[in-house]
Amino acid sequence: MSGTISGAAVIAGVVGFPVRHSLSPLIHNAWIAAAGLDAAYVPFAPPADRFARFLDGLRGGAVRGLNVTLPFKEQALAAADQISPRAGLAAAANLLVFEPDGTILADNTDGLGLLQAMAVQAPGFDPTAGPVVILGAGGAARGAAAAFVEAGAPQVRIVNRTLARARAVAGALGPKVEACCLSQAADALAGAAAVINATSAGLDGDGALDVPLEAALATAVVMDMVYKPLRTPFLRRAEGLGLRTVDGLEMLIRQAAPSFEAFFGRPPPAEVDVRRLALAALGGEA
Ligand code: ATR
Repeated sequence: MSGTISGAAVIAGVVGFPVRHSLSPLIHNAWIAAAGLDAAYVPFAPPADRFARFLDGLRGGAVRGLNVTLPFKEQALAAADQISPRAGLAAAANLLVFEPDGTILADNTDGLGLLQAMAVQAPGFDPTAGPVVILGAGGAARGAAAAFVEAGAPQVRIVNRTLARARAVAGALGPKVEACCLSQAADALAGAAAVINATSAGLDGDGALDVPLEAALATAVVMDMVYKPLRTPFLRRAEGLGLRTVDGLEMLIRQAAPSFEAFFGRPPPAEVDVRRLALAALGGEA
């Protein structure tokens, strides 16, 4: 929130259930304050069975836009009147913009956030350089797979505990995407240029997925969408093998920037170190 909330303030927010632990209000309000905007970014946690009604109530301009987090990303896409190509490919929306005429636009900046996080924390990484392995087959995995297909990855291998879910994602994204189950992970990881954990394994310090990272290229980049803890057991294992790593917090921050621009019509001010603020909120982990 900025120092000035007038009657003309622009309101945006994040909707999820639960939303209490979202870092998005911290990130966006730090940017709002630094930019001196007459604006606020607030959390919403409507009950899951009333999400559609909640969105309808916002049509026509109560808020400028919303970020969408679990479990609403698919429902948000379904409720929108216009869907960007990348949101359609991901089959999920993390960004809704409410037009004054009542229409809702759906977009997805998660894939962009993922690719930018890779570029920032693994400089020189080339998404076209070799096969990319995505662990998981939920919404986060599908979004990541779609982003890598669009970025020109020669092949995307979806590895999931439940093979049928991996097949569903691969089937939706075309011939460059293959599906396999966790027991075939060694084959899938062979020669991989990047390995992305898009499962919820490792969240809150739970055990990492036991996949043979050593099968990947020595130059492979390993990324984990889980950012609590920041250095997940999965990333620690990759570090132990001498592989470059990318954390989920960077992806969170990078997906937030285009959302901010969609809400407030300008990019976030570069001078705010939102990563430092987010790290402090996560408990000061370096
Ligand atoms: P999201 O939409 O955030 O991706 P999701 O749809 O619940 O969430 O998907 C979670 C993913 O993590 C799934 O791929 C799930 O595997 P299944 O499809 O077999 O359920 C995966 N996952 C979660 N915990 C896991 C674990 N301990 N080991 C392996 N995979 C796990």
